[in-house]
Amino acid sequence: MDFDALDLDAITHVFFTGAGLSAESGLPTFRGVGGLWRNYPAQQLADIRFWRQNAALVHEFYDMRRETLANVAPNAAHRAIAALGTRALNLTQNVDNLLEQAGCPNVIHLHGRLWQMHCTSCGHRWDFGLGPWRAEDCCPACGAREAVKPGVVMFNETAPEYAKLSVLSRLKPHHTFAVIGTSGAVIDVNALARACTAGRKVLNNAEASDYVEEDLFDEVYYAPTTEVITQVIGPAAAG
Ligand code: APR
Repeated sequence: MDFDALDLDAITHVFFTGAGLSAESGLPTFRGVGGLWRNYPAQQLADIRFWRQNAALVHEFYDMRRETLANVAPNAAHRAIAALGTRALNLTQNVDNLLEQAGCPNVIHLHGRLWQMHCTSCGHRWDFGLGPWRAEDCCPACGAREAVKPGVVMFNETAPEYAKLSVLSRLKPHHTFAVIGTSGAVIDVNALARACTAGRKVLNNAEASDYVEEDLFDEVYYAPTTEVITQVIGPAAAG
């Protein structure tokens, strides 16, 4: 999508989403029960400094995450957002492609894309698919192999797409800003909600988060997103 060419007047909903949006599809969250960071050392496997020392182990971890993604499908929340078509702008922390699989045209991946690889030697990013990183794989642009990492933003790596979050301060009274399925542990949801100028602000998590001030929202739904996505989207959900 051409973010700079986006016509905000044609947008009705801006979604800021996290792992909870994909939880009911079968992808684990990070900090909840069964979350990835409960079972794996996040400060290692998702940290670029650790990757530099243990690339094979990090690739194995993301091989496992890509294999999991290959075996799941969009859930009703992804589909309801996709039904909005070009009226929805998705600012997602998720590295899965379930919003795209559901048919969403406007998706910004703030933390990168699990199905891509990134060559830190020449900067090339390409669609690698959901298979494993094999011994014969290398950067198609420069041929490097050791310099290739998964196409996700790792801890201690810059996240250039964060600059696009400034769009929230350009929203208008007719816009809905919906936060779905994120603890706010990495990107400051309270700062986003305060800066956001949308006329309607909605929060939907499975439960309250210590990092999120619910008073910053007009509507709060603590429930599985597939059960409340129609209320979260609001009147436009009728299409
Ligand atoms: N419906 C709605 N919300 C849900 C559901 C559900 N079915 N299941 C879980 N949640 C909510 C939880 O209440 C929690 O607030 O999803 C949130 C998951 O929080 P985290 O596991 O911290 O995931 P997330 O907020 O996406 O993490 C942010 O941390 O490690 C980094 O890069 C990683 O992008 C990720 C970032």
